[in-house]
Amino acid sequence: MLHVPDTPLHALFRNRKPGYSLDAPFYVSPEVFAADMEIIFGRHWIYVGVEPDVPEPGDAMVVDVGPSSIVIVRGDDMGVRAFHNVCRHRGARILHDEKTTVGNIVCRYHSWTYDLTGALIHADHMGPGFDRSCHGLKPVHLRSLEGLLFICLADEPPTDFDEMAREIGPYIAPHNVRNTKIAYQSDIIEEGNWKFVMENNRECYHCSGNHPELTVPLFAYGFGFAPEEMDETERANAERYTCMLKDKHAEWEADGLPSREIDHLDDRITGFRVERLPLDGDGESHTVDTKAACRKLLGDFTNAKLGGLSCWTQPNSWHHFMGDHIVTFSVLPLDPERTLLRTKWLVHKDAQEGIDYDIERLTEVWQATNLQDSTLVGYCQTGARSPAYAPGPYSPHTEMLVEKFCNWYVNRMKDHLER
Ligand code: FES
Ligand SMILES: [Fe+2]
Repeated sequence: MLHVPDTPLHALFRNRKPGYSLDAPFYVSPEVFAADMEIIFGRHWIYVGVEPDVPEPGDAMVVDVGPSSIVIVRGDDMGVRAFHNVCRHRGARILHDEKTTVGNIVCRYHSWTYDLTGALIHADHMGPGFDRSCHGLKPVHLRSLEGLLFICLADEPPTDFDEMAREIGPYIAPHNVRNTKIAYQSDIIEEGNWKFVMENNRECYHCSGNHPELTVPLFAYGFGFAPEEMDETERANAERYTCMLKDKHAEWEADGLPSREIDHLDDRITGFRVERLPLDGDGESHTVDTKAACRKLLGDFTNAKLGGLSCWTQPNSWHHFMGDHIVTFSVLPLDPERTLLRTKWLVHKDAQEGIDYDIERLTEVWQATNLQDSTLVGYCQTGARSPAYAPGPYSPHTEMLVEKFCNWYVNRMKDHLER
């Protein structure tokens, strides 16, 4: 446990300098990593996937969060539940593949058998005094936010999930995640601490120099800028962008699509941000030609020109919802210096590959962007290992969300360490 006051760990959090990147141990130290896993990933709502990962009864998905392995399974009643993937007999891991379909959940070791609600329904040779009802799979808290699945490993999860769901839900609902399928999934291991992966996602300061594909449909003024560095023409363009954003929000909201920014990235236990932004060019989707990548649109949409709805949750996700497809990202730490980035591309469940969409065209922007980001994260990790590393200042115009991520992280850690 981490309750001894004034350890070097406490000092590290107490001495964090606002507005600056974190000290090196936050990115390299096994002790900080262990505390991150216990406090951040052990006691907060973690984004792990989508309901279409387990579309039918018996469909199961295994997600590893640090040392915990979690089974997410759809029951015969169509409910989705999560359990620890640990047999209640002698603790063997039960399901091994990331995706599988089962009738019941059967441990290979001595065939203890659990139904899809986690109840132990079969265990041979255990004698008359054995009570099966005391040996069901250990449940894990799971919530679906309009089809996005979050788990919490704590006994008592943060209670503000409902607030987040109330606020984000209406933004996401029209894209109807539950009525999609996973067209493609990519897992890449980034050579960096999970916080570097998150920080990199929370700014587009680096976009113009690194992401030729990602930036095609993005308006440069959406990345943030320093007004004092602009000439008159640039300032007029920036003002035009601000007006266009306001008009677009009003237009989409009049059409029943909530769009205006809500930002609770660092003032809630379950931090989040959501906003719909216009896309440039044809404005249909986040693709290299700005046109829809899937002919069959999501939900009840009849027009793809809905911009891109972006949603960010602390500590480990971001999502982009367009009219034709959704891209959703889950960040799962592997060790202090390696992180799994899991990306899923969702299309309407009736869309047909080769007819309505082409995998390469659907995925090319974020496949390229993920690799570019992965390289940048690796550069940061290498830098943090050097004795020369010192925290550097964030741009007040383009790195506000990085600062909010760090504020959230440091405050959540301090809150638990000081208890
Ligand atoms: S460890 Fe699972 S049945 Fe024995
Ligand atoms: Fe990036």
